[in-house]
Formats: sequence, structure tokens, C-alpha cells
Amino acid sequence: MAKLPDTTRLLLGPGPSPVSPRVMRAMQAPSLSHLDADMMALLADISLQLGRVFRAPAGSFSFAVSGTGSAGLEAVVTNLVREGTPVVALVNGYFGDRLASVCERAGGRVRRVTGEWGRALDPEALRGALREGGADLVAMVHAETSTGVRNPVESLCAVARAAGAATIVDTVTSLGGMPVDVGAWQADGVYSCSQKGLGAPSGMAPVTFSARAVEQARRTPGRSFYFDLALLQDYWTARKYHHTISAPLVYALREALLEVEEEGLEARWARHERNHQQLVRGLAAIGLDLLPPEAERLWTLNAVRVPDGVDEAAVRRTLLERYDIEIGAGLGPLAGKVWRVGVMGNGSTEPIVLLLLAALREALALPR
Ligand SMILES: Cc1ncc(COP(=O)(O)O)c(C=O)c1O
Repeated sequence: MAKLPDTTRLLLGPGPSPVSPRVMRAMQAPSLSHLDADMMALLADISLQLGRVFRAPAGSFSFAVSGTGSAGLEAVVTNLVREGTPVVALVNGYFGDRLASVCERAGGRVRRVTGEWGRALDPEALRGALREGGADLVAMVHAETSTGVRNPVESLCAVARAAGAATIVDTVTSLGGMPVDVGAWQADGVYSCSQKGLGAPSGMAPVTFSARAVEQARRTPGRSFYFDLALLQDYWTARKYHHTISAPLVYALREALLEVEEEGLEARWARHERNHQQLVRGLAAIGLDLLPPEAERLWTLNAVRVPDGVDEAAVRRTLLERYDIEIGAGLGPLAGKVWRVGVMGNGSTEPIVLLLLAALREALALPR
């Protein structure tokens, strides 16, 4: 029988990120049922905390869907896309493509506007596409985890808004690690995950809906029961049974959000930027470069080019077996071409970056 882990693996892949001892301890608090008054008070706190972390404007509804980032994605899409809704989906990586497919599965008439993998999306390309044929909705990924690219969400949302389209934004790899400002973006449906920049285990997906998105979703319910916004809002705010939320995951998310608030959102972003820069400098010193140009990089997730002649899987195996460090492989067309190194949440520290660089140097020096 497989056994539980008994060493602390350093999680430096595309997610999950390391969970702090404080958040792990929070999960040991006695269980509460999903309708307990004390649970409802915790959910009310989390809703406010998430509103602050998303920087959601007044009138929005922020909460967490029971499930991973993909559940957040489905929740936003199934509440905003209806049969025949014209959608422009911006795709410059694996997760943009996934978002586009989920919009299709929800019945949307999806037009993909594609960009190069490894480069940020161009707002002019979106403007052109919207001029050619309008859309009710534009869907985009802020932090494209497959390529390490940050897309210019504020400009993209402005272009969409000028064309009268609502917006969906994926912040799975940015929330808690780099600037996310739903109020400034004026985005309508935004989702994330608990296991990256926020530093909780996976299983609770933060989401936020604008006032107009809530109103629209309540007026015309979508096909999903589990992700129905009106039912979820009635559970979170009016204690009407919808599903049996996981108490340990609620405790973990609450504690992780408290840690974020104690650190301060901007200080946390600055920490991520600083440690990302240190990693980039250290990688350069051992001859490694990142895929995206400097101005388009994430601070949370680094797509590091695999040098010619290096067996990328062997390097990952060495890191894991000798140093208990996990980094990620490339996805899709980038398989074998990049490593994906996540330095986020509790993993974004100077000692961790130095340890990773030292281990990587050793792993690259091994005879192959
Ligand atoms: C940008 C992005 N969107 C969506 C997801 C899906 O999240 P999950 O694996 O938590 O379901 C991920 C996962 O890494 C992601 O990076």
C-alpha cells in the first residue's frame, strides 16, 4: 500500500505551492457543518477578504467555489455564457485554450484570437477582432502558466468594454503573487485557485462577479446546478443549503488570507517580484534564460528554456530524487523545451531561490 509522505517536498512547480505550517494547523480545527452559524460567519469573513484580495469594486460578489481552479473557471463560464453567446477567447497558451473550450462546451459561439506562445497578447489584435465581428463576452488569461507570460489585462478589458463586451479573466497564477485589480480592470467574472499565490491547499477556488454579472446570472440561470451563482450566493449569504462545503478547506483558505492581509498585498507582490528577479539573475549566471521577454514575464511562474542537448526530464528527476525539489515540465508545444519553475506563495523566499539555483547547478553539471 502506498504510504503518506514523510519528507517535505519543496513544491516549485506550476502549483501547488508550499503550504505554511500555520495553514496546515488551521485544518486541524474541529469540524463544523456547512450550515453552522460559526461556519457562516467564517464564510462571510472569507467573502470580504476575497473582495479585498481581488480588489473587487463595491457591489461585486466574491466567494470561493468548492473545487480547484478549473471549478472556478466552470463557475464563471457557466454563469456568463449561454447557448449562442458570441465570445471572443484570447489564446496564447494552454490555459487560454482551455478557457476557450469551456466557453464552447457551455454553448458559446467562440472565436479564438490567437497569439504566439511565449509572448503577451496584443490589445490591437482584440480591437481588430471586435471590429470585424462583435462579441458579448471576451475571455482571457492574466497569468498564462504554460508560458510564464503576463497578459495586459487592463488594456484588453478596456478594449472589450469599448466594444460593449463583458469580460472573463483567469487569475489562477496571479492572485496573491502579482497585481490583480478587478476594480481597475472592471472585469465581470474573475476566477483563481487557492494553491498558488495564496498558499493554501487546492480545493477552494476564489471567484468574483461584478454587480451586473450577478444580476444577469440571477435573471437567467445557466445549466449547471453545482455552479449556479444564485444558489451559491444564497448559500454564502443567506444560509440556504446548496452543498456540503469542506470545513478544513474553509479554515485553510481563511488562514491563508489572513497571512496575506498581515503581510499586506502590495508587500506580497513586491516580495514576489524581488524573488523572481533574484531567480532570473541566478539563472543567467548558470547560462539559463526565460522564454518570455523581460517586460512580459510573470513573477510567480518562470518558463525557463532548456539548453540544447540537455535532457530536461533527467534534470527534473535529479532535483526530485536528490534534493526533494519539484519543478514542472513544459506543456503542449513547449514540452521538452522549457521547465516551469513556480516561485510563489510561501515558496517565494530568498533562501528557497538560492537552494533551487544551487540544486539546478548541480543537476546540470551531472554527466548525461
Ligand atoms: C492559468 C490556469 N488556469 C486554470 C488552471 C486550472 O486550475 P486547477 O488545476 O487548480 O484546476 C490552472 C492550473 O494550473 C492554470 O494555471
